[in-house]
Amino acid sequence: MRDDLTNRGYLPRRNPAFHVPAAASARSEAAPRAVTDTTGAASPLDAYRVAKEPYYRAVADEIALYEAAYSVRMPMMLKGPTGCGKTRFVEYMAWKLGKPLVTVACNEDMTASDLVGRFLLDANGTRWQDGPLTMAARFGGICYLDEVVEARQDTTVVIHSLTDARRVLPLEKKGEIVEAHPDFQVVISYNPGYQSLMKDLKQSTKQRFGALDFNYPEHEVEAEIVVHESGVGLDAAKKLVHIAEHARNLKGHGLDEGISTRMLIYAGSLISRGVAPLAACRVALVRPITDDPDMRNALDSAVTTYF
Ligand SMILES: Nc1ncnc2c1ncn2[C@@H]1O[C@H](COP(=O)(O)OP(=O)(O)OP(=O)(O)O)[C@@H](O)[C@H]1O
Ligand SMILES: [Mg+2]
Repeated sequence: MRDDLTNRGYLPRRNPAFHVPAAASARSEAAPRAVTDTTGAASPLDAYRVAKEPYYRAVADEIALYEAAYSVRMPMMLKGPTGCGKTRFVEYMAWKLGKPLVTVACNEDMTASDLVGRFLLDANGTRWQDGPLTMAARFGGICYLDEVVEARQDTTVVIHSLTDARRVLPLEKKGEIVEAHPDFQVVISYNPGYQSLMKDLKQSTKQRFGALDFNYPEHEVEAEIVVHESGVGLDAAKKLVHIAEHARNLKGHGLDEGISTRMLIYAGSLISRGVAPLAACRVALVRPITDDPDMRNALDSAVTTYF
């Protein structure tokens, strides 16, 4: 890490002018580790602290790799299919590192101003409101851009100056250059299966990131996660994982995507609340992923093989 990153002086603005969502404010009361400046003032990012240790079952060496990446403030890309643990991982890492986590769900209507901030009109005239990216950069948080490819490329490029050696964010409309706080890091999630030529990250964006591959955990580990998260018994969890493995083999052969860990947790939750396993699997595993009658039959019969 560059020495000047750790030694750079930092003084948060007083009375920051951005909106903290009500839910986040409520969470902040439980947050154990408030950041304060030298005057004792709380940081607006306190509302974004992960108060309680999230349950995360390590699958390989991803925790150590991420910690090493964070220690040099390398921007990180989490790649993997839907529902395999990317968001849970970043929540866990933010908790472990003791850093606030500012999450942005990206979509194609999102503009650079949604990330960076804008002037707002209120009773007292205009005031600047930092966007989530600026807030994380200014006060030192992890900014997690979820499903970043959904954002248009002209929006995504605003992260470029923050994700290379400059670590600055020019606020053109405000005439300010924000120097990233030493704790600041950008993390993006990316689902490699879903990209089209029109919708992909530019190489100049990709090459600013280190990447961790995520996938569904191996059988025993996934069953353990399903038990923990849904409360279903181990036997049933193992059967659910078998069904998922069956469906994952059908990806590209009639299914766009396999059954995710998230779906198994849904099914397990229904079973643990007394729903019959066949009905639970139909509702939580089969019906959501396909409308094709043949494929539904094939998956339903896989379910009956195990339950
Ligand atoms: N390794 C893991 N440890 C603990 N829980 C996990 C793990 N992997 C998956 N889960 C569980 O699976 C659920 C779905 O994971 P998560 O929301 O992190 O998926 P995701 O990869 O972010 O999906 P998406 O791309 O759709 O956002 C989590 O809520 C969590 O309960
Ligand atoms: Mg996610």
